[in-house]
Amino acid sequence: MNKNVAILGTQWGDEGKGKIVDSLTLENSYAVRYQGGHNAGHTLVINGEKIVLHLIPSGILHKNVTGIISNGVVISPIALYNEIKMLENKKFFIKDRLFISHSAPLILQYHVEMDIAREKKLGINALGTTGRGIGPAYEDKIARRALRVEDLKDEKKLSIRLEKIVDYYNHQLVSFYKQKSIDYKIILKNLLPSIDLIQGMIKDTTFILHNAIFHNKKIIFEGAQGSFLDIDHGTYPYVTSSNSTIGGLITGTGVGPKYLDYILGVTKAYTTRVGYGPFPTELFDDIDKHFSHKGHEFGSTTGRKRRTGWLDAVALCRSIKINSLSGLCITKLDVLDGLKEIKICIAYKNIKTLEINTSLNDCKNVEPIYEIHPGWVVKTSGIRKMTDLPAEARNYINRIEEITHIPVDMISTGPDRSDIILIRNPFFIKKQII
Ligand code: GDP
Ligand code: IMO
Ligand code: MG
Repeated sequence: MNKNVAILGTQWGDEGKGKIVDSLTLENSYAVRYQGGHNAGHTLVINGEKIVLHLIPSGILHKNVTGIISNGVVISPIALYNEIKMLENKKFFIKDRLFISHSAPLILQYHVEMDIAREKKLGINALGTTGRGIGPAYEDKIARRALRVEDLKDEKKLSIRLEKIVDYYNHQLVSFYKQKSIDYKIILKNLLPSIDLIQGMIKDTTFILHNAIFHNKKIIFEGAQGSFLDIDHGTYPYVTSSNSTIGGLITGTGVGPKYLDYILGVTKAYTTRVGYGPFPTELFDDIDKHFSHKGHEFGSTTGRKRRTGWLDAVALCRSIKINSLSGLCITKLDVLDGLKEIKICIAYKNIKTLEINTSLNDCKNVEPIYEIHPGWVVKTSGIRKMTDLPAEARNYINRIEEITHIPVDMISTGPDRSDIILIRNPFFIKKQII
């Protein structure tokens, strides 16, 4: 039986990772966020109630689950405070079972100001970031000047370091970006309630995870963003600033690859993307309206309309390799209900060289080549058994397996925790060699 399962997005984010993590989390296990920050928006629907989590791992709403925000995540103490309070208002009390890494870099006000100022300056070349300060916070980490969670432990030292770093950022904000300067004392004052709340949660999370592994605990690792938003493997520069592919789990937790038993790739039955950048199968017609309306394709973090398109199997095959996926979970199958035909992009035609390519080398100058499958009219929403799906939907899933050469182990048929066809539970199958 598998113990440690990773769940990550294979497209451009918002594949439904949060819902799948929540559906698979077992009691008494560990739930871990390992990269990204509160740019993520993971939606859970539990008995009709919708909860959006940005920083806290989605498995935490199950009983006796220990939540971990590990070193690869960039943490805004204020965003974390707000999220803990939001959950408390909904009667989920998690603060005694949530631990945050002492070495995670912090996101502070100057990161947010820089993120917004840069986007503004880029004008039509903007990336379409979430404006949460993610890029600047990861820059500080790599430049070895970041304030980290451990720095919250000593207010006096924090104040000295804050003054210096705010001075550094004020030079840029005022001289280059023509923005107002910021006051480190106000940052410090605004931080105090969150420091108070999270002080007791600060731990060496790598040690906690190794201890959990030693005691045969089950661990679910929850990716944020999607594979093509990865800083190295994504559609650069239209990417986020972390490794959202599997490598980010290893460096972001200190848990090595031999401990991973199964890696699940979450794939929407079509494709969406928020923010700018290449999107080969993007649609601008009535099908886009269908996906948008039926799939409620509006960002969980910023509320922006998501761009939509057909499933891109060329990109998916690359994602499977980069992440060494064990299996797929196809989400939002129900959103395809009622479509006459459904397309899958199986190759790209390079519009300059007219070459046909079945591997994703360059997704900027390409036109998709589609195969067309018949749609279905019956409703699949809420279906929990493969045999209850219409034949056309089963054929669509089988075709995805044929193209990708990996099994579809789960299918999601609605936003609720229980709207799921569990073909093979990643925790209850034999370990695969990764
Ligand atoms: P994440 O960032 O990958 O966790 O995904 P988001 O939560 O940002 O976006 C996924 C959206 O689709 C959310 O509104 C979910 O409630 C919803 N959702 C997830 N799975 C399904 C599904 O199978 N069917 C439908 N109709 N909605 C789903
Ligand atoms: P989840 O975890 C979809 C996108 C932004 C922008 C780019 C860079 O919910 O799937 P950033 O603020 O990270 O510097 O923005 O990345 N982006 C996401 N798109 N889902 C997300 O997270 C995203 N997190 C960032 O829209 O294009
Ligand atoms: Mg999301």
